[in-house]
Amino acid sequence: METNILSDLAVKAHSLDAISASLDRRLKRIDWSFSQRSKAAAIEGIHPYPAKFIGDIPRAFIDALPIPPGTAVLDPFCGSGTTLMEAQRAGLPSVGIDLNPIACLIARVKTAPLPEGFADIVQQIISKARNIHSLPPPDIPNINHWFKPEIQLAVGALAQTMAEPAYASWLDQLRAALSSILVRVSNQDSDTRYAAIEKKVARGDVFDMFATAAARLERALLERLWGLPTASVLEANTLEVQPSEIGMGVGLVVTSPPYPNAYEYWLYHKYRMWWLGFDPISVKEKEIGARAHFFKKNPHTADLFVHQMKGAFELIDNVLVKGGFVCFVVGRSKIHGQIINNGNIIHQVATEIGLEPVSRFERVISATRKSFNLSHANIKTETIIVLQKN
Ligand SMILES: C[S@@+](CC[C@H](N)C(=O)[O-])C[C@H]1O[C@@H](n2cnc3c(N)ncnc32)[C@H](O)[C@@H]1O
Repeated sequence: METNILSDLAVKAHSLDAISASLDRRLKRIDWSFSQRSKAAAIEGIHPYPAKFIGDIPRAFIDALPIPPGTAVLDPFCGSGTTLMEAQRAGLPSVGIDLNPIACLIARVKTAPLPEGFADIVQQIISKARNIHSLPPPDIPNINHWFKPEIQLAVGALAQTMAEPAYASWLDQLRAALSSILVRVSNQDSDTRYAAIEKKVARGDVFDMFATAAARLERALLERLWGLPTASVLEANTLEVQPSEIGMGVGLVVTSPPYPNAYEYWLYHKYRMWWLGFDPISVKEKEIGARAHFFKKNPHTADLFVHQMKGAFELIDNVLVKGGFVCFVVGRSKIHGQIINNGNIIHQVATEIGLEPVSRFERVISATRKSFNLSHANIKTETIIVLQKN
């Protein structure tokens, strides 16, 4: 009897190994640099976001892996919601978590239906805002350094008008359009360069740029020729989310986590957050990997990152169904001169909780992808790790 059970287990283990080997081959046949990539859907470009996925990455995982039926896709660090959007495109429900309210705003807009009458509402808001000729100065630190007084007036008038209760149904889309132009109308040189320069932008330009951004957003949302299954976005610290908040069994996790001393999402969106009434400083405090944490008195370390990833995997393991897959895309870090292989950290943490490795390989990061502060680490590839719960 015991021998029978043991030999059954051996047969099972052998067939699991064979399935896993064939998935490994399938994944490695994909061109992960997507050099032949066709033009991205307009929806991918509605708002800048640092280190965002190209849609091809989550799409390739969704297409290649046998996702257990009736399950959802989870991205525990969803940023601008690329994974959620690709899940929708494939007809799957999804859940995303991100700390950054601008990330959550973009992710919601990309995955929600566009409420009717958007174009008319935009025109109404612009005409009302044009008639506002004075406002109390916004309570935003260092505002005069980054925004000329006439620009402050125009942005403030738009933000205040769209917050009126009558526009509540369109608020996310309106805010996303406004947020998308804020760096261009500010004195900041560009999204990736934090220097104040003289720009020829006047008050009227703000309204014109907002109208253009809103029209572009509307076109991009209407171009989504796929259904919109549920995509819920939790604005939270992933390390504090309870499994019950996910609300569905998860069959696929696709994510690129924040990693030490690399990007600073809070800084990139700092003034967007101030203008929309959020507090960037509290976001910074909880942001995993933010560079600022590595230069303070009690600096963050690679060990802390291991601990943080253990927290993220605890949540993942709790909600992942048997047979479900976990796909991480992660780069290397350089902390005070020392290169940290985050891929090894993810692999170690994931296998410690019992996930089985399916595949692991490097992906070349496109030279055209703007990385505004990774030059210090000379990062040219990132690691893709795929695991399964057996
Ligand atoms: C590499 S980005 C994800 C980009 C995303 N794949 C996309 O396509 O836009 C990592 C994300 O982790 C988020 N993040 C950092 N610390 C977090 C935390 N403690 N809880 C939740 N999200 C966090 C950042 O705000 C950032 O959006």
